[in-house]
Amino acid sequence: MAKSITHNREQWQSKWGFILASAGSAVGLGNFWRFSYLVGMNGGAAFVLVYLASVLVIGVPLMIAEFLLGKLTGLSIVSAFRKISGNRKLWVALGLIGVVASFVTLGYYAVIGGWVVGYLGQSLSGNLPRDPATADAAFRIFSTTPALQIVWYTLFSWIVATIVSRGVRAGIEKYNRILMLMFLMLLTGMAIYALTLPGAREALSFMFKFDASKITPLVTLLAVGHTFFSLSLGAGIMIAYGSYLPKKITLPFASIVISVIDVIVALLAGLVIFSIVFSFGLFPDSGTGIAFVTLPPLFAVMPGGTWLATIFFFMLAAAAITSAVSILEVVAVYLMDEWKVSRQVSTWGSAIAIYLFGLIWTANDITLVDKIAGGYLLVLGALAVALLVGWVVPLSNLAKLLQTKATHPVLRGFYFLNRYLIPITLVWLLLSGTF
Ligand code: TRP
Repeated sequence: MAKSITHNREQWQSKWGFILASAGSAVGLGNFWRFSYLVGMNGGAAFVLVYLASVLVIGVPLMIAEFLLGKLTGLSIVSAFRKISGNRKLWVALGLIGVVASFVTLGYYAVIGGWVVGYLGQSLSGNLPRDPATADAAFRIFSTTPALQIVWYTLFSWIVATIVSRGVRAGIEKYNRILMLMFLMLLTGMAIYALTLPGAREALSFMFKFDASKITPLVTLLAVGHTFFSLSLGAGIMIAYGSYLPKKITLPFASIVISVIDVIVALLAGLVIFSIVFSFGLFPDSGTGIAFVTLPPLFAVMPGGTWLATIFFFMLAAAAITSAVSILEVVAVYLMDEWKVSRQVSTWGSAIAIYLFGLIWTANDITLVDKIAGGYLLVLGALAVALLVGWVVPLSNLAKLLQTKATHPVLRGFYFLNRYLIPITLVWLLLSGTF
């Protein structure tokens, strides 16, 4: 091993490889499964609007902040927090929140990833349900039969661990290329088709016709929480990805590109899903399985639906895998940086532990754990990142990393957001008693 891990650290091969890997982390089940059920259950456009505002004001600056912490230290979340804070216990503990959030999140994320792989298997065999009622019944049976889920969950977890065990370039970066572009093209095609359905108009107004009275503290908390989930923030992922960065890169540009891709995917997915919901007379607030109930019948009525379904579920599985890869990377790189174990040992060790723990969710409802690990813990982790960048790292260091002057207005804006606005908003949300 090297004298210092930082020197031996793997690096991204190219700038776009890094951007696509980060976008691959961001784009995942969150954009389909999670976004759609949150929008459906929380007032439609009200949620969408708060979400967009939150991506802009909180998401983008925090993503830049995470990349900066990674690049500044060349380390992953816990070690980075330790180094920047001068080994203060409180900060090390805060860094561990990210690792815990990742550990817990991956368990249930992989269960849902397993659902997607299962649906891929069904579409390959031409067995997808053809109308919403059958789709609903099929989803219920699938999601309440542990044995069935364990098969797909195991397959999904194994693929993810294999990719992570290969490392940054040969694993993470390689598998994230191409897929993103194909994915975006297919989704755009589906959204255009969905717009021709009779329920499209209602879907558009549900998602974009905004009613201020529907913005409640709960909606706000969930929308802000989802910002972190969807952009993969608050768990140390972008810190890890930032730590593999070569010297020259414009982080604000990269962060904006990644966030825009993520938002576009979520909005397109929402359009597709809600057009079907309204076309078939379903209810938008029908719960966490909404994406799985609405998509199969769409394929049934689309021309060439069977093979489109296969491509779609393949893409969605790929998107879920690239996200799960990033979540596992946090736990694996934590063990590598802090405990100095090899990539193989840390990847397989953490993957197996997460796998065993995650088995719980093949037999239990995930709503609560998703709220806690995928919401609350990420908000806490993000708060720590904002405070670290806003209060602990000297402004002159940030300026140097961003290759600009400390007086640059954009840098000052960024600094202000991380120093005051983001922490205050997050503390308010955490204390608002909505949990
Ligand atoms: N962003 C991914 C998605 O939308 C999920 C994800 C990746 C994630 N990394 C994360 C969620 C870290 C929480 C924490 O599907």
